[in-house]
Amino acid sequence: MEAAQATCPGDVLKDNKDVSVAKNICEIVNENTNRESTPKEEETKNNTNNLKDGSGGQVVNAVAKHYNELEEFGLASRSRSRIFYLRNFNNWIKSILIGNILQKIRNENGGDHNITVLDMCSGKGGDILKWRKGQISKLVCVDIAETSVEQSKMRYKEMQDRNQSSRQRQPIFKAEFLTADVTKQRLKEMYADPDLHFDLVSCQFAFHYSFESYPQADMMLKNISECLQPGGYFVGTTPNSYELIHRIRAAEGNSFGNEVYNVEFESKDKENFPLFGAQYWFRLEGVVDCPEFLVYFPALEKMAEKYGLKLISKKPFAEFFNENVNVAGENRGLLGRMQALEPYPVEDGVNAMSSNQDDYAFAKEALDKAIASGNYDFRRPLKVGTLSKAEWEAITLYLVFVFQKVKVDKKLDSYDKSHVSSPTRTSKRKYDDDDDDLDDTKLSSPKKFEIN
Ligand SMILES: C[S@@+](CC[C@H](N)C(=O)[O-])C[C@H]1O[C@@H](n2cnc3c(N)ncnc32)[C@H](O)[C@@H]1O
Repeated sequence: MEAAQATCPGDVLKDNKDVSVAKNICEIVNENTNRESTPKEEETKNNTNNLKDGSGGQVVNAVAKHYNELEEFGLASRSRSRIFYLRNFNNWIKSILIGNILQKIRNENGGDHNITVLDMCSGKGGDILKWRKGQISKLVCVDIAETSVEQSKMRYKEMQDRNQSSRQRQPIFKAEFLTADVTKQRLKEMYADPDLHFDLVSCQFAFHYSFESYPQADMMLKNISECLQPGGYFVGTTPNSYELIHRIRAAEGNSFGNEVYNVEFESKDKENFPLFGAQYWFRLEGVVDCPEFLVYFPALEKMAEKYGLKLISKKPFAEFFNENVNVAGENRGLLGRMQALEPYPVEDGVNAMSSNQDDYAFAKEALDKAIASGNYDFRRPLKVGTLSKAEWEAITLYLVFVFQKVKVDKKLDSYDKSHVSSPTRTSKRKYDDDDDDLDDTKLSSPKKFEIN
């Protein structure tokens, strides 16, 4: 079985105050968990299969159904969840990504610039507080799941009400909420102000749904780009297809995972993947999520180019974390405030997230080193902030990306894509990390690529 390596957080905390950093290598080993599906999971899968008619684009109905039916659990139950720290860590990644890009926009446009944001696939409005903290002026939230849109409206209203009754009232951004399928509907026609322009489009943990088919990915990019200011940014988080493919190839069957997550590919062919519609199921904490699709980045980059979007950066979560945790500012403090790392050792009477002590081998090593160095306040218990290996394996499946709109494509509406024929579900392609020679004329012509 193949093992990948990534840097796992092992930050030394003291009474939840960070004093220094100890980074360790966390070895990721694919544990193939071929367990049977539960009846609820089978039901979700069957629903999806029934909704697919082979023409592409049918899975979105299942996606909307899935997110509409997801219950909103309270803070208390979330804190008991096995993936409590994983969720918080992902939230920290989003906070830093959003904070960094808003700062960049201000630097480039002057500090008093009124920032307008499109939160695409905004879900229940989990990022609303981040937009407030970022002091934006206007937010448009769009999601396919009506229930989620209603919940985000409520969140916004509660925030306004709290602000109204607060002594330190502060201006709050204006907001607009839309229910729409961003892969099929043209958003420009739905905004209250048709001349609206965004400084930023943010799409967190959702872009991969569009890679069900070429027309869907194309419509999503059009929606992202056509109201984005020249110089504006498109940022997001999405599963890293290369990592998914590495792990599935290292696994014995057509699934891999561990006690917190599982990925099951629809196809048993591990060599060839279609550019669009390369479907897999992602299960987190035992709950089947909806079907997701591999995002082939070279194809995305080429398609994005047509809409004037240039890739600025693409980084796996582990790299993004390492780069951002030590920069001057509040990033490190935010880790503690957001409870993004699990304290090790746990308090007396508290159960660790993982019952497997091996999951904390690196935290133990970091703690031992810190103790040996003697460089800490002896009056307080020394703690290491970490993540269980199982959670880290799930986290390292994701990447962060940043695109910038570099030119206005005046022909956007009449864009002729006849020369970019849509690859069908049967056009197979191998994946390669270095796919520079891919151009749009080749999008439909199968060419062999090998992942290293
Ligand atoms: C994993 S959630 C992420 C929500 C939010 N961005 C966040 O980070 O908390 C994915 C979201 O994408 C939305 N979504 C999926 N496909 C969509 C589509 N075609 N159009 C609009 N929203 C979509 C789902 O309804 C869901 O709310």
